[in-house]
Amino acid sequence: MIRINENYLKLQASYLFSTIAKRVNEYQKQHPNTEIIKLGIGDATQALPAACVEAFHSSVDEMAVDASFRGYGPEQGYLFLRDKIAKNDFQARGVDISADEIFISDGAKCDTGNFQEILSTDISLAVPDPVYPVYVDTNVMAGRTGNFENGRFQNIVYLECTHANNFIPDLPTKSVDLIYLCFPNNPTGATISKNGLAKWVTYARENNSLILFDAAYEAFIRDEDIPHSIYEIDGAKEVAIEFRSFSKTAGFTGTRCAFTVVPKECMAYDSQGSRQSLHALWNRRHSTKFNGVSYPVQRAAEAVYSDAGKQQIKKIIAEYMKNADLIRREMDALGLSYVGGENSPYIWIDAKGNSWDFFDNLLNNAGVVCTPGAGFGTCGDQYIRLSAFNSYKNVEKAMKRIRESVS
Ligand code: MLT
Repeated sequence: MIRINENYLKLQASYLFSTIAKRVNEYQKQHPNTEIIKLGIGDATQALPAACVEAFHSSVDEMAVDASFRGYGPEQGYLFLRDKIAKNDFQARGVDISADEIFISDGAKCDTGNFQEILSTDISLAVPDPVYPVYVDTNVMAGRTGNFENGRFQNIVYLECTHANNFIPDLPTKSVDLIYLCFPNNPTGATISKNGLAKWVTYARENNSLILFDAAYEAFIRDEDIPHSIYEIDGAKEVAIEFRSFSKTAGFTGTRCAFTVVPKECMAYDSQGSRQSLHALWNRRHSTKFNGVSYPVQRAAEAVYSDAGKQQIKKIIAEYMKNADLIRREMDALGLSYVGGENSPYIWIDAKGNSWDFFDNLLNNAGVVCTPGAGFGTCGDQYIRLSAFNSYKNVEKAMKRIRESVS
């Protein structure tokens, strides 16, 4: 008899952003004339940078001619892109990452979700609370957790991020094997200092742990002293994997391109206690299960690093951050406390009540979509997240509607 992976039955009925989309669609059906403003899911709204579009077009033209046509590419990604990433995102910051430590993929969501596959199922794991749900759900699917009780899965160490610790998790009080960190953080928008991150690297080294570091929002960092990569910390290459994405940096949410850094020095242990290369294992997994991102998409991603691409991206990000500044000013005026929005496109707001109720009120009374904090964990129960991904005009309109609906 064919049987299912029963770990899936432990999951919540649907993925957070699918639940929200369903509620919004139902509302829109009932209120067809309401112009809904979406500040919920962090989805790019500005067009691709012109340099990327140009590279996209010319590489599609290459595919139209036998002589320049490309079939299967390297599963790890084309060297032209991995070289540019290594030089611009790492070596230019004094970080020693080489092109052959980079794996191109179709998304940081997939990579942060899939990476746990090459690790044992009986390791212990810690996640921040609130947390991007993909880290948790993929570990539930893999069978590393118990059941969901009182808003949390058994066998996960939840690291509470609250006002009291400035939304930066404290080190676990016991030894944990696998740790997920995300900075600038989704959902809170909080950032971590070099010293703060160094404590995690030291912890991982002392406990033979592995850190999965999600840096999908690093392009939004404005303060000079905030680290862009965990590899800016000495010793991190032995204990950390880093995930990056072109989705938020260059509007690739629909185009799909991201990358994961697996340093050659990064090791994990087999049951005999021997060190095994995570780079070799991830390479094995990636080349078996993934056939690479399409050639035109990789050419478009490469254009992110051209002079024109860099200028265009700077402008796009500055515009999103102008939205974030406007949201912060409005929350100040409303007397609502928040974190984030300074080096991140997300603003995490204390709604002073049930976050799903706040979500419903905002949708019904202002026609504005937010993300209820409860969807990210129990510490998010009374928070909502607003995203800066929209036009300035829409954010202005949304702020006006929120002001009118709460006053
Ligand atoms: C979010 O809104 O949290 C993100 O857009 C989700 C994602 O990147 O998958």
